[in-house]
Amino acid sequence: MTTSTRRLEGKVALITGAASGVGECSAKLFAEHGAKIIIADIQDQLGQAVCERIGRSNSIYIHCDVTNEEDVKNAIDTAVATYGKLDIMYNNAGIMDPKKERIIDNEKSDFERVLSVNVTGVFLGMKHAARVMVPARAGSIISTASIVSNIGGVCPHAYTCSKHAIAGLTKNLAVELGQFGIRVNCLSPYALDTPQATGFTGLEGEAFKDMVNSIANLKGVTLTTDDVAKAALFLASDDAKYISGHNLFIDGGFSIVNPSFNMFQYPENS
Ligand SMILES: NC(=O)c1ccc[n+]([C@@H]2O[C@H](COP(=O)([O-])OP(=O)(O)OC[C@H]3O[C@@H](n4cnc5c(N)ncnc54)[C@H](O)[C@@H]3O)[C@@H](O)[C@H]2O)c1
Repeated sequence: MTTSTRRLEGKVALITGAASGVGECSAKLFAEHGAKIIIADIQDQLGQAVCERIGRSNSIYIHCDVTNEEDVKNAIDTAVATYGKLDIMYNNAGIMDPKKERIIDNEKSDFERVLSVNVTGVFLGMKHAARVMVPARAGSIISTASIVSNIGGVCPHAYTCSKHAIAGLTKNLAVELGQFGIRVNCLSPYALDTPQATGFTGLEGEAFKDMVNSIANLKGVTLTTDDVAKAALFLASDDAKYISGHNLFIDGGFSIVNPSFNMFQYPENS
């Protein structure tokens, strides 16, 4: 890739949950596009290994539990101390609550744990990113939500609440930070083959792929972490310079249709 085709040349990006899945893939893609990367996660060995693969000259790993304000503050201060600024804050770390059909079986502790990582963690990332981006009057804040930021019935209660909350925080912050030229957006992917989803469904590899593709709206393709990373790259880059307050669905239309009545289903395909 040449300097002119690299879309994040000279930028500095902090990505939470970058030791695995979507975050790891985004860290690699952002680095290929010229960004300096701060990988923030609680899985230290995996995080260091990602850093090694990207290259020590353009990435650092930092232990950061996103539920801990001191950790988040420290991660952002380390980004600024190491690379001089923070252009992109990608709040991607997230967890899922156990699969339980009945609300009566849901534990308060699980509910609070999920909200703590998925909502408080994103709030803290936004807060401390704003702390350094407002004086710079520039920046792009991205968070990973999910299709359940808008629809119900396909993920557990805490997870669904948490992703709705991310969409709300994104809107509020896009309004607050617009006056400083800072853009705030989120991404809402359909199911992805990562430890989070395979752990939840108990399916792996081809079995996971077959299941998600069978219920997908868009046929003939499988969503991958690379597709999400490319959407994050777009929102992070100057190509999205006028896009703010947006929740970008990467779901092949899954969340816009009620499949119980689809008048366009060709009989030969059903
Ligand atoms: N996998 C899917 O089907 C899917 C679909 C839509 C959205 N998402 C979202 O994508 C994001 C990334 O998840 P993934 O699918 O790549 O899963 P993943 O499990 O591969 O990655 C999540 C990462 O977050 C880290 N993490 C967890 N708790 C943390 C904490 N307290 N502090 C810092 N890091 C923490 C984990 O260590 C892990 O590296 C999550 O927000 C998830 O909710 C996933």
